[in-house]
Amino acid sequence: MGILVFFYSLVCLLLIVSESFSSSSVMMHHVCSPTEAFALLHFKQSFQISDQPICWDETDLQYERYFDIPKTKSWNESRDCCSWDGITCDMLTGHVIGLDLSCSRLNGTIHLNSSLFQLYHLRTLNLAYNDFYSSSIPHNIGRLTNLRHLNLSYSLFEGEIPTEISYLSNLVSLELDCDECELDEKTFETMLQNFTNLEVVSLYGVNISSPLPVNISSSSLRYVDLGHTNLGGVLTESFFLLPHLEKLYLYENDLLKGVLPKIHPSNTLLELDISYTGISGELPDSIGTLSSLNILVMYGCQLSGRIPDSVGNLTQIRYLDFGNNHFTGHIPSTISKLKQLTFLGLSSNSFSGEIPDIFSNLQELRYLYLRNNSFIGSFPSTIVSLTQLQRSYLSSNSLSGQLPNNMSMLQKLTLLDLSYNSLNGTIPSSVFGLPLLSSLSLQHNQFSGLDDEFKTNPTFKHLDLSHNQLSGSLLQSLSNLTNLSTLVLSSNNITVDAGIQITFPSLEDLLLSSCELKDFPYFLTNVKKLQQCGTSDLSHVPQPLESEDESYFFRGFTWESVVIGYSCGLVAGTVVWSLMFKYRKPEWFVEFFEGIYPKKMRRSMKRAQRRRT
Ligand SMILES: *[C@@H]1O[C@H](CO)[C@@H](O)[C@H](O)[C@H]1NC(C)=O
Ligand SMILES: *[C@@H]1O[C@H](CO)[C@@H](O)[C@H](O)[C@H]1NC(C)=O
Ligand SMILES: *[C@@H]1O[C@H](CO)[C@@H](O)[C@H](O)[C@H]1NC(C)=O
Ligand SMILES: *[C@@H]1O[C@H](CO)[C@@H](O)[C@H](O)[C@H]1NC(C)=O
Ligand SMILES: *[C@@H]1O[C@H](CO)[C@@H](O)[C@H](O)[C@H]1NC(C)=O
Ligand SMILES: *[C@@H]1O[C@H](CO)[C@@H](O)[C@H](O)[C@H]1NC(C)=O
Ligand SMILES: *[C@@H]1O[C@H](CO)[C@@H](O)[C@H](O)[C@H]1NC(C)=O
Ligand SMILES: *[C@@H]1O[C@H](CO)[C@@H](O)[C@H](O)[C@H]1NC(C)=O
Ligand SMILES: *[C@@H]1O[C@H](CO)[C@@H](O)[C@H](O)[C@H]1NC(C)=O
Ligand SMILES: *[C@@H]1O[C@H](CO)[C@@H](O)[C@H](O)[C@H]1NC(C)=O
Ligand SMILES: *[C@@H]1O[C@H](CO)[C@@H](O)[C@H](O)[C@H]1NC(C)=O
Ligand SMILES: *[C@@H]1O[C@H](CO)[C@@H](O)[C@H](O)[C@H]1NC(C)=O
Repeated sequence: MGILVFFYSLVCLLLIVSESFSSSSVMMHHVCSPTEAFALLHFKQSFQISDQPICWDETDLQYERYFDIPKTKSWNESRDCCSWDGITCDMLTGHVIGLDLSCSRLNGTIHLNSSLFQLYHLRTLNLAYNDFYSSSIPHNIGRLTNLRHLNLSYSLFEGEIPTEISYLSNLVSLELDCDECELDEKTFETMLQNFTNLEVVSLYGVNISSPLPVNISSSSLRYVDLGHTNLGGVLTESFFLLPHLEKLYLYENDLLKGVLPKIHPSNTLLELDISYTGISGELPDSIGTLSSLNILVMYGCQLSGRIPDSVGNLTQIRYLDFGNNHFTGHIPSTISKLKQLTFLGLSSNSFSGEIPDIFSNLQELRYLYLRNNSFIGSFPSTIVSLTQLQRSYLSSNSLSGQLPNNMSMLQKLTLLDLSYNSLNGTIPSSVFGLPLLSSLSLQHNQFSGLDDEFKTNPTFKHLDLSHNQLSGSLLQSLSNLTNLSTLVLSSNNITVDAGIQITFPSLEDLLLSSCELKDFPYFLTNVKKLQQCGTSDLSHVPQPLESEDESYFFRGFTWESVVIGYSCGLVAGTVVWSLMFKYRKPEWFVEFFEGIYPKKMRRSMKRAQRRRT
């Protein structure tokens, strides 16, 4: 047995031998070399354990569920280092071959003389999500040539990634996602050319500032994240010819130009995200050959032309976002074949014609973004059969006619934005009865009435009916929306009778400008939280701040109307900006975390960093 060579004490020998006879689990026990144990302890001692956790469960909106474990704390000299948390040893030789201290709250610097670099046998090194305190990655990393997996993502490294990283030609996965790092062009190219076993490369945020490489020899690549890397050049076929590529992210590289290449039928892509790049031109017909594709994100590029009918061949697609481009023409009716769709984004293009009735088969659809186009015709009636629909934005089009009467199947709908269209007739009471609906914006249409009776609905929070042709004393009808917090009725012909017997105890914003106020609206005297109310329009409309992050996930319901308005003098009030943030944040947040488009933890990391500063 080769093990014998490595025994350094008789005690250990006896221990192992007796174990091996007494149980079949002999392979579970290793004996760590004292040098390696010493090196590990030394490595441990070079850090403090921070009391601030970093790894945060993204589904937790309260920022409370962290899952960091300070693994080094439990390392005990009197035990075999192979049994320490985060350590893996070779079953035969006993050498330390794996060190996983991700999310371990390490705080400090890895110096050149760090004992880490004595662990020559390491095949896996994962130090992701720690705080290396703005130090740079030491060039000695190039000595660990046995590494197969290197993961240093989101550990607050800074500066130049050492060229010596290109010595690690056995790497199978390389993750260096880092907001403040730079990588030189030559090293980057070497990686993609000399690392013949490379399957995973993730460099989100690293400033590479080079053209997208044309020659990629690492034909085993499966996962490539080059998002936000300042890559330029032209998109070529190279990536699309890789035989095993499943996930390709090139987003947030506005210098990256070119057109989408012809896709070959052998393609294996599951996810493609080129959003916020300079990629232009038309979608090739061959896009339909990506028959395994789950996620296609092309938001904010320079794409134009029509969406080819072949898009209907993407039958596995769940998330499809063509928003914010220059597409024209009609929505192809073949989209009705995409039965797995949960997210359909076509906002801010120049689509025209009627919205075809493509929805009856799209029973998984939860998010529908069609806003800011030139759609005409009536509200597509098959939308009302979407029992899973949660948010729907059809605002800023030219839809006309009446809304369908029976909307009661939209049991999951929380937000409906139909503002800035030419819809008319009566607003059906079935809308107000939707059990989860909390925001409804119908402003800037030609609605002339409201069904007078509807059931109590405590979920309803935000209602904007401004700029319509509503008339009469309609407040009474709204009285069953018991938890209303925003109510905008400006620019209608609504009368507010002084003696009206209703209360909206949760009301925070009320805008009644250009309404017929005959007298002081006494129902307001019971409102405790009212922060602003307005009776006339402002000429200077402050534009909401939009950070890139948030606009990405929050494309729709605009709160301008909520915030615009003079204090009407009842309450000392100014425009309450904090309100916007109060509402906006959860909106995009929720959308993001619904798990429709699972990104990595990068955003929580950014947020955690922001909170720290
Ligand atoms: C790491 O230590 C530095 C200096 O003591 C401190 O400023 C920083 O907040 C710490 N990081 C964490 C995550 O605790
Ligand atoms: C290490 O293990 C020994 C024996 O099991 C125990 O007495 C000691 O408290 C442990 N030390 C730490 C730091 O856990
Ligand atoms: C890198 O580490 C992070 C945090 O532990 C983990 O989520 C990710 O999957 C790791 N990457 C690889 C390729 O194992
Ligand atoms: C390692 O290098 C750092 C900085 O160069 C120095 O402060 C530290 O004392 C050195 N440690 C050892 C054990 O030599
Ligand atoms: C990359 O591979 C080529 C040929 O195999 C070799 O000549 C070159 O030295 C390698 N580059 C690096 C940085 O290892
Ligand atoms: C990225 O690197 C380039 C060239 O080194 C530099 O000009 C540019 O300012 C850097 N960008 C960022 C965001 O640091
Ligand atoms: C790509 O590789 C081919 C041959 O492998 C070579 O002729 C060509 O010059 C390379 N192009 C670039 C940009 O490196
Ligand atoms: C793809 O879609 C086009 C147009 O809808 C159709 O003519 C073609 O047969 C489809 N191809 C496959 C492989 O399904
Ligand atoms: C509407 O779409 C156009 C492009 O068609 C875009 O330029 C504009 O910014 C969009 N407006 C909004 C409010 O999103
Ligand atoms: C609604 O508008 C359509 C034209 O778009 C018109 O034919 C119809 O009479 C209008 N209905 C009402 C109730 O105003
Ligand atoms: C309010 O709802 C109740 C039942 O939930 C109903 O009886 C009543 O008529 C409604 N009131 C109005 C004004 O719609
Ligand atoms: C507003 O409604 C009143 C009746 O409630 C009506 O007399 C008046 O003409 C209407 N004004 C407009 C501009 O429609």
